[in-house]
Amino acid sequence: MRVGVPKEIKVHEYRVGLTPEAVREYRSAGHAVIVETGAGAGISASDAAYEAAGARIVASAAEVFAEADMIVKVKEPQPGEWAQLREGQILFTYLHLAPDPAQAAGLVASGVTAIAYETVTDRFGGLPLLAPMSEVAGRLAIEAAAVSLKRPAGGRGMLIGGVPGVPPARIVVIGGGVVGTHAARMAAGLGADVVILDRSLPRLRQLDELFGGRVRTRFSTLDAIETEIFAADVVIGAVLIPGAAAPRLVSRAQLSGMKRGAVLVDVAIDQGGCFETSHATTHADPTYEVDGVIHYCVANMPGAVPLTSSYALNNATLPFGLALASNGLDAIRRDPHLAAGLNVHRGNITNAPVAASLQKPYRSAEEVLAG
Ligand SMILES: NC(=O)c1ccc[n+]([C@@H]2O[C@H](COP(=O)([O-])OP(=O)(O)OC[C@H]3O[C@@H](n4cnc5c(N)ncnc54)[C@H](O)[C@@H]3O)[C@@H](O)[C@H]2O)c1
Repeated sequence: MRVGVPKEIKVHEYRVGLTPEAVREYRSAGHAVIVETGAGAGISASDAAYEAAGARIVASAAEVFAEADMIVKVKEPQPGEWAQLREGQILFTYLHLAPDPAQAAGLVASGVTAIAYETVTDRFGGLPLLAPMSEVAGRLAIEAAAVSLKRPAGGRGMLIGGVPGVPPARIVVIGGGVVGTHAARMAAGLGADVVILDRSLPRLRQLDELFGGRVRTRFSTLDAIETEIFAADVVIGAVLIPGAAAPRLVSRAQLSGMKRGAVLVDVAIDQGGCFETSHATTHADPTYEVDGVIHYCVANMPGAVPLTSSYALNNATLPFGLALASNGLDAIRRDPHLAAGLNVHRGNITNAPVAASLQKPYRSAEEVLAG
């Protein structure tokens, strides 16, 4: 198969779909790899490094889209990219379609076979291609909160860990999955007073074991969320209902009960956000203020640390990408976990929660691939 890697064009997105090391793996499995010039610049991987790994460098994204049987990217395709996708071509990337009807319409119209990293599953019920970026975003969320809490940034003027004799920040993490766990780990490491809320009791039990009492756990009810956010200096939104738009857990009215200069970091913004007042921001201008509360809502947080993120992502995507390159649609037919990643195929939406969120008809992967 011809595998194509265009340069990412989303604002301040510096990750790349394939690292030179991954290119070498595809080449050794017998595939051709076409890379747009400069695609690896954000991770200091030169065209020469890609050529040494066996890729062919082309001058434009248009050539990549025209020639490749499978496009491997990082972020969802942008409007100019939808138009270049076609039936019979595989798109392997993050999509986050549930809150994005325009992109869904673009992919449906193109006829492309689109596999979303974030809905591929594993046998433990996890999301193996979302997990590495969630690890990065969870850790970054505390760095973002630390910056935003500083007075010149509009925050309360607090050091997360406090100092001897002065209490640390109270950090509330809503959602104790991968993002939440890594955020809590960083926050606890800095000396913060941390609580994690989750709807899953088994997960709360695991977290209690994991942190050995260093972090409080609390079942997530409307009441518990309200009590905790009113006392918080930082709230991290880290919930996920796979494939669906994020539930809105904090209303605008509740902001008035929070401390002035408190910080909300809505990591779930890529699924629409879990605070009513969230709207997506970019690394160019990551924060804004509503009713005295600072909001950080960058939809592609790991894009700020592309070197770490691209390697973490490639470690996870490589086996699935190689299976797709070697076996095409049969890879999806054979592997229910890859089939769970199929979101769009020849004009059909093939992921039930995505279709429900978009209020569009749903057809199963099995059904659309049967022909
Ligand atoms: N902004 C970014 O750059 C970025 C990067 C990575 C991940 N994310 C997003 O972060 C979010 C979390 O990802 P994850 O990998 O940690 O997911 P996860 O599935 O590992 O964890 C989500 C957790 O949320 C919990 N949850 C669901 N509803 C809840 C509720 N009402 N109250 C409390 N907890 C609830 C679930 O029980 C689960 O433990 C996702 O939306 C993901 O797309 C964003």
